[in-house]
Amino acid sequence: MYEREGLLKQYRYICNSNFNVMTDILEKIQEAVAYIQKRYQTAPQAGIVLGSGLGSFTREMDIEAEIPYSDIPHFPVSTVEGHSGKLIFGKLSGRQIVAMAGRFHYYEGYSPQEVVFPIRVMKFLGVTHLLLSNAAGGTNVDFKVGDLMMIKDHVSFFQHNPLIGKKIPELGTRFPDMSEPYSKALMSKAIAIGKAAGYDLKTGVYLGVTGPTFETRAEYRMIHLMGADAVGMSTVQEAIAAVHMGMTVFAMSVITDLGIREEENVITHQEVLEAAQAAEPKLTHIFKELVGQL
Ligand code: HPA
Repeated sequence: MYEREGLLKQYRYICNSNFNVMTDILEKIQEAVAYIQKRYQTAPQAGIVLGSGLGSFTREMDIEAEIPYSDIPHFPVSTVEGHSGKLIFGKLSGRQIVAMAGRFHYYEGYSPQEVVFPIRVMKFLGVTHLLLSNAAGGTNVDFKVGDLMMIKDHVSFFQHNPLIGKKIPELGTRFPDMSEPYSKALMSKAIAIGKAAGYDLKTGVYLGVTGPTFETRAEYRMIHLMGADAVGMSTVQEAIAAVHMGMTVFAMSVITDLGIREEENVITHQEVLEAAQAAEPKLTHIFKELVGQL
């Protein structure tokens, strides 16, 4: 009896705190946006999220302002090695962009709503196109370390959906369509850019996991059987939030390890960072050209 009452109390607490969290989100987004707009007034058209080992991409930008996450009200603060933690505003290929140097991961202890908070802020700053990048483990037997894989679709079932909670009509609909989360039009443009540069661009399905453990051999095999070509600990929640708000999304993985090969599946974070850094110039070229064609 006592146990049942305790559970009911706990349930009511969770519902209420969830309710409060969700109703606050819009206010938090607005406060973050107002702060950013005080420091930098030009609205960005494209948002770019840089994955592990991919931060030096911003060297290509004409930087006009940098705002550390720690200055922005309600922004979480990045803790992972290889992520520097700031919003960078400026021009790339003649377009106004904002780049996130460092993203937030569920495995760091952030809630799914916190993980997608910067994406929501970007939308309210005026961003219409979101370009995501990440380091991922290859589960397609034809892939090599250093390959670039354009994400054509994802499997989100192993991560918590960031839209769980009270409906916020200002952000989007209750049951968003996910039949084409990644823009076919942008994929065609990227394929043409890759071809012109002589890259062997791969295309595939990305499966999102929580991390922080890399997968066991059995898990890599299972992920492969489930139809995914790559696995990683980011991107999916951000893409869902962006599609929910009506943004056009493009995403690309750098294949940094091959969990599917038994002889190659002892994986370290260092190896992931090094492989991402080695492939970065190619990814940078594609993103830069793509932004120019938006
Ligand atoms: N699994 C999950 N996340 C990753 C991997 C991987 O093999 N490589 C880089 N991020």
